[in-house]
Amino acid sequence: MSDLTIPAARPVNPRFSSGPCAKFPGYSLDMLADAPLGRSHRAAAGRAKLKEAIELTREVLRVPADYRIGIVPASDTGAVEMAMWSLLGARPVEMLAWESFGEGWVTDAVKQLKLDATVRKAPYGEIVDFAEVDFDKDVVFTWNGTTSGVRVPNGDAISADRAGLTICDATSAAFAMHLPWDRLDVVTFSWQKVLGGEAAHGMLILSPRAVERLESYTPAWPLPKIFRLTKGGKLIEGIFAGETINTPSMLCVEDYLAALKWAKGLGGLRALIARADANAEAVRDFIADKDWIADLAVDPATASTTSVCLKFTDPRIGDGAAFAKAVAKRLEAEGVALDAGAYRDAPPGLRIWCGSTVETSDVQALMPWIEWAYRSEIAALQAAA
Ligand SMILES: Cc1ncc(COP(=O)(O)O)c(C=O)c1O
Repeated sequence: MSDLTIPAARPVNPRFSSGPCAKFPGYSLDMLADAPLGRSHRAAAGRAKLKEAIELTREVLRVPADYRIGIVPASDTGAVEMAMWSLLGARPVEMLAWESFGEGWVTDAVKQLKLDATVRKAPYGEIVDFAEVDFDKDVVFTWNGTTSGVRVPNGDAISADRAGLTICDATSAAFAMHLPWDRLDVVTFSWQKVLGGEAAHGMLILSPRAVERLESYTPAWPLPKIFRLTKGGKLIEGIFAGETINTPSMLCVEDYLAALKWAKGLGGLRALIARADANAEAVRDFIADKDWIADLAVDPATASTTSVCLKFTDPRIGDGAAFAKAVAKRLEAEGVALDAGAYRDAPPGLRIWCGSTVETSDVQALMPWIEWAYRSEIAALQAAA
């Protein structure tokens, strides 16, 4: 294609943001009508909703029966930091990072908690070599790098009989990727990602070994109320039965329940994973024979199926950041892709969210528009030269 003809079809839903992510197909605010608004979350109706959210999470995500699931404040960040502040310091720590959120957890460990951690980093587009990681230490990592488009391929390199705990930020992986529960002691995510729910609430999933640590170790630093998971050396079990630490939004809970029911109706985890896989494949099929655009992920084995990050490789492009921004702006102005620019700290390019709420037909419809926007920007560059 060398002409600048506008593609014939448009995505029905142009929402490709990597968070908050698109609502599931068929979503309507009417679905929230049963939210117990203006009622105490501790009243029977509210407690039942919170409990249902936990139970449906367990069912759809296939969380083992002996793992605790809690709804905690402050979205995924709250859940990760709660785990780090509550669990770390008992043994040596390894921090793994391959994009900006993982880097944030490194900062927490090294600069805030002042832990003498081994830090392993990989550049954008790659992940660290798990074979080098010592799983007898506590290990903190992100399953899917939302800003770099790479993920851990599977849990094979994480030892099953480790002495340390694995603390995994899985916010852009949970529901769209298989998570090997026997290799993970702490898993966190936010409702706003793969299920297209609302932000502000985090999910904290704990293995029996993580609970054992909580009940046998007291960190040297103070813990604010919002982080406290134990009382008198015992786990506060109520948190994992829907008795939240502070007040949740029952409207957000209802919204999450609607998404979980949609997910269950589709066929659960297998169907959710298949949708994300098909979406990512639609992008990769499109870029496969193009010499002007490429996956930021270096190794296809670690390429993300949710946050697919692309870079422009045309040597005629001088200012990569300005070019990618202009392409994203064109896509937005045409109403075919909203929020598809790369994350602010990541290499310039596009980031197409391919999580389970996105329709594959929309991803397919978007692809020719990316080519159109790219060609239009090249033409503009040449006209200005
Ligand atoms: C990998 C990762 N960790 C943490 C966060 C922060 O999530 P939240 O804003 O829900 O706390 C994000 C948000 O995009 C993320 O992608």
